[in-house]
Amino acid sequence: MARAINRQDGAVTNHPAPLLAELKGVAQQVAVAAGELVRTMRQGHIEVAATKTTATDVVTEADTAAEKLILEMLRKLRPGDGVLAEEGGAAHSDTGFTWVVDPIDGTVNYLYGLPNYAVSIAVVHGEPDPQTWQVVAGCVHRPEDSVSYTAALGDGAYRQGTAIKVAAPTALSQALVGTGFAYSAKTRAGQAEVLTRVLPQVRDIRRMGSAALDLCAVAAGQLDAYFEHGLSPWDLAAGQLIVTEAGGVVTGLSTRQPSTAMTVAGPPQTVAELSELLAQARADEVGN
Ligand code: IPD
Ligand code: CA
Repeated sequence: MARAINRQDGAVTNHPAPLLAELKGVAQQVAVAAGELVRTMRQGHIEVAATKTTATDVVTEADTAAEKLILEMLRKLRPGDGVLAEEGGAAHSDTGFTWVVDPIDGTVNYLYGLPNYAVSIAVVHGEPDPQTWQVVAGCVHRPEDSVSYTAALGDGAYRQGTAIKVAAPTALSQALVGTGFAYSAKTRAGQAEVLTRVLPQVRDIRRMGSAALDLCAVAAGQLDAYFEHGLSPWDLAAGQLIVTEAGGVVTGLSTRQPSTAMTVAGPPQTVAELSELLAQARADEVGN
């Protein structure tokens, strides 16, 4: 049986390579179909259908329609697998595998007609919890230019089928660092304070509006590093594997694994330096 080795922690899993390739194929097939749906829907009039945690944390009809399509496709292609999806879709896993789904990551960009949004679909083994899961395959698909980032455990990371790699480690003063902000005003005030500590120490900051695509930009060496407080499992799952398979690491601050409190991603050396700065700024406590 082929064995896959995770590039971040060196853990060996016994998932056969053909199964991992099949799961990656399913993730991409479903992400592309959902991407086509949301891109087409945006040619019409897009409205906020509902709000979630705050008045600016929105759901459009396209989020709901895309999640429905994704769940229907997964039920047919992988019966018995579990589901954890941003807009409420959930199903228990009978196989040990669970699909972690963000139908539109970057919903605010989607609403405003900005191109940087994506469908993010990953399959994890074990509980769908970033502290313990093993992400085994995933796809982040950006519908506006039809670009897919994909990875399967032990098989590298790809952009449109071409292998990608994280940037060479760089001094923090030269690093272009991506980040994002929460929907809660109180948390954002804390994040603004953290930025006053980080911004003078780095080349510059980018806030592009999709955590999944930020992680893919790290994987492709288009950002030197990325950090964010407040990510949910569906923001993180596919992008996490794409970064680690591209030779990077994705960690928390006080925890080895990324968490809602903090996710830091990039080449190991850059992540170590950035994490030290973030720890000094108590960047994982902004929501408290
Ligand atoms: C959000 C985006 C954003 C990040 C937020 C996420 P959504 O996801 O990824 O870049 O800063 O933390 O919640 O709401 O567009 O699916
Ligand atoms: Ca999201």
